[in-house]
Amino acid sequence: VMKKMWAGRTSGKTDQIADDFNSSIRFDQRMYPEDIAGSIAHAKMLAKQGIIPEEASGKIIAGLEGILADLNSGKLEIDPAAEDIHMFIEETLTERIGQDGKMLHTARSRNDQVALDIRLYMREENGQIKQLLKQLVEALCDQAEKYKGSLMPGYTHLQRAQPVTFGHQLMAYAYMFMRDLDRLGQMEERMNYSPIGSCALAGTTYPIDRVYEAELLGFKAPVANSLDGVSDRDHVVEDLSDLALVMMHLSRLSEELILWSSWEFHFVRLADAYTTGSSIMPQKKNPDMAELARGKTGRVYGDLMAILTTLKGLPLAYNKDMQEDKEALFDAIDNVELCLETFIPMIKTLEANEKAMHQAAQKGFINATDLADYLTKKGMPFRDAYHISGQLVALCIDQDTVLEDLPLATYKGYSDLFDEDLYQAIDLHNCLAKRTSLGGPTPESVQKQVDEVRGKLALE
Ligand code: ARG
Repeated sequence: VMKKMWAGRTSGKTDQIADDFNSSIRFDQRMYPEDIAGSIAHAKMLAKQGIIPEEASGKIIAGLEGILADLNSGKLEIDPAAEDIHMFIEETLTERIGQDGKMLHTARSRNDQVALDIRLYMREENGQIKQLLKQLVEALCDQAEKYKGSLMPGYTHLQRAQPVTFGHQLMAYAYMFMRDLDRLGQMEERMNYSPIGSCALAGTTYPIDRVYEAELLGFKAPVANSLDGVSDRDHVVEDLSDLALVMMHLSRLSEELILWSSWEFHFVRLADAYTTGSSIMPQKKNPDMAELARGKTGRVYGDLMAILTTLKGLPLAYNKDMQEDKEALFDAIDNVELCLETFIPMIKTLEANEKAMHQAAQKGFINATDLADYLTKKGMPFRDAYHISGQLVALCIDQDTVLEDLPLATYKGYSDLFDEDLYQAIDLHNCLAKRTSLGGPTPESVQKQVDEVRGKLALE
């Protein structure tokens, strides 16, 4: 049994089973670049304040840079027996540079160290996720522009409802992901305060400069309260909540892609590269990527619930429970990144079957509202017009025909207000073209939406 670095009051001799239970190295090792960046800033600050000699600080920094390079290149391997990444790096440093390495942990605790590392890691990954979201929105804009004139039925209750365009439908998703981008940006702003210098919980008697260290690490300012500095994981909750929304949006898009690529709809064709076959049924082309994203959504929701539940009722300040924050966070980040990386090319290569969409639009009476509006514009109260149109739809269903093919005489039997021009009013293309209200489905409106979103992305 090896003696622990933290063997102060106790013998530091722990049972192997307790060590394994306590250890976080198998998952927190991914934060080594952040841990090293934090330690370099700390060593600089300690020297600037005269807390450790300039020379020792220089050796510490050089040693840490060497460790970083060797971890990056694979020359140095992370020892799974180390308790966590913070201990591993400090131990390796002292092994490499000797006594001076032992000065690094002055005026610091793993409590503020881990709080710092998480924020730095999240900042990095958040940048990556925002980039991916942008690329996804760009792909949606390109497709929306291409299909801005493609008539399709819009649905409510998954029943054909009113005419829209495929471009309009795609832009609805673009706006969801734009809000996700916005939320992630706001989360990052609230997270942008440095917890380092909170130390274990109560600050320190050393003359540290938290403002300087915060600046070195690119934060706006230090966290104002040291207890809050080490106890706060709001940003983890917020990030997981934002990521749960990203997944919810991806999952709704997935559901539509799955439906649309079925023979029942046949609205879209996914590129072969993003589908799978069946081991027994030779005709199959399955939308596995969309299904998997839909499935992973539940898992990311679970990550959010896990951290919320872990933090609930935790007394201040640090408690070991908080070590559980990382696996949930990393799992969500990894899975969101995987999903986005897959969806970007899948959306880029998606093809719409405009003919099938058009055919679907022709059946299902999606111009029935327009028929009612026609009567209303001629003076009939909407509720009466609604009623007559409903009867005409029922008649069509009975006679296996469509509104466009009913003779004028039949219409006249229901109301004198009907005239030849009703056929214009219920023509599907007119029904679409006349929906000129702001945010509507016309090609012009879709183009406006695309331009607006592209404009916003350019400012990001
Ligand atoms: N591995 C720990 C964590 O992830 C680091 C902080 C440990 N602090 C402590 N006092 N045991 O939370």
